[in-house]
Amino acid sequence: MSDQLDGKRVIVTGAAQGMGRAIAVECARQGAEAVTVVDVKAGDAEDTAGLVRAAGSRAAVVLADLTSADDIQRMVDEAVAFAGGLDTVVNNAGVIDTTFLHPAGLDTLDEATWDLVMDVNLKAVWLTTRAAAPHLRSSDRGPSIVNSASVAGVHGTVSAIAYGASKAGVIQLTKSCAVALAPDIRVNAYLPGTIDTPMAQGHLASGADRATTERRMTGTQLLPRFGTAEEVARVACFLASDAASFVTGGIYAVDGGTLAWRGVQS
Ligand SMILES: NC(=O)c1ccc[n+]([C@@H]2O[C@H](COP(=O)([O-])OP(=O)(O)OC[C@H]3O[C@@H](n4cnc5c(N)ncnc54)[C@H](O)[C@@H]3O)[C@@H](O)[C@H]2O)c1
Repeated sequence: MSDQLDGKRVIVTGAAQGMGRAIAVECARQGAEAVTVVDVKAGDAEDTAGLVRAAGSRAAVVLADLTSADDIQRMVDEAVAFAGGLDTVVNNAGVIDTTFLHPAGLDTLDEATWDLVMDVNLKAVWLTTRAAAPHLRSSDRGPSIVNSASVAGVHGTVSAIAYGASKAGVIQLTKSCAVALAPDIRVNAYLPGTIDTPMAQGHLASGADRATTERRMTGTQLLPRFGTAEEVARVACFLASDAASFVTGGIYAVDGGTLAWRGVQS
């Protein structure tokens, strides 16, 4: 346990499961004062809040659908009222084409899926940043925003076309927000590779042949295995912490080395 996030009041979106849950718990382990757990899944979000409390932080659940601008404003308002301020936002929530389309690809991608993926993955990051900025500006506890992008925002994909475009947008939005909010608020993003979460398991199951899909997902990594949610959470928490006080506008791969080369493990 470290006290890297000592005293921080944090929002984590999409924290009912997967990486969001791991980040919320890691924030508590690293000394966050208060963690607001945001999701649409009430029961699982309450479970995350219980884990956060067990790890030593105050926790509140805010049920918010990030496709709604009103919900996003309410999320920020309720988090600030609960915690007495806001120092860190982790924009983690995300959705992927393959959850909604079978098979997923250029020919089957429809407007509703495109819009949903863009709204949750990209538009919500902008709306949350805009709603949070006034509170972050008045924080004297090292305010920052940490965005979840993806390696799929850098390289092309066959089946997650809206997803990849949305994550490329998050990378660009991160840089522009870092510029717009400097020097008061640091803004960074990380790019997970293949991480073992419900989303990745669903994506794996969406392929015709699970073994081939798994090889495709992990075989391009220098570390040819699924990453864990905790391995990503530690990087997200580092970017949120004062240990990263000179880091802004940065894009950090947490990808087992996928983006380092063009190869496939033999
Ligand atoms: N798992 C991977 O391999 C991987 C790789 C690269 C990037 N990512 C990104 O990391 C982040 C977390 O991914 P994960 O694998 O933990 O996903 P996950 O599907 O396991 O969890 C995502 C969470 O977001 C919530 N969510 C979805 N839509 C929402 C909405 N409209 N409003 C509020 N909450 C909503 C879900 O309910 C869920 O709890 C996402 O942004 C994802 O795109 C994941």
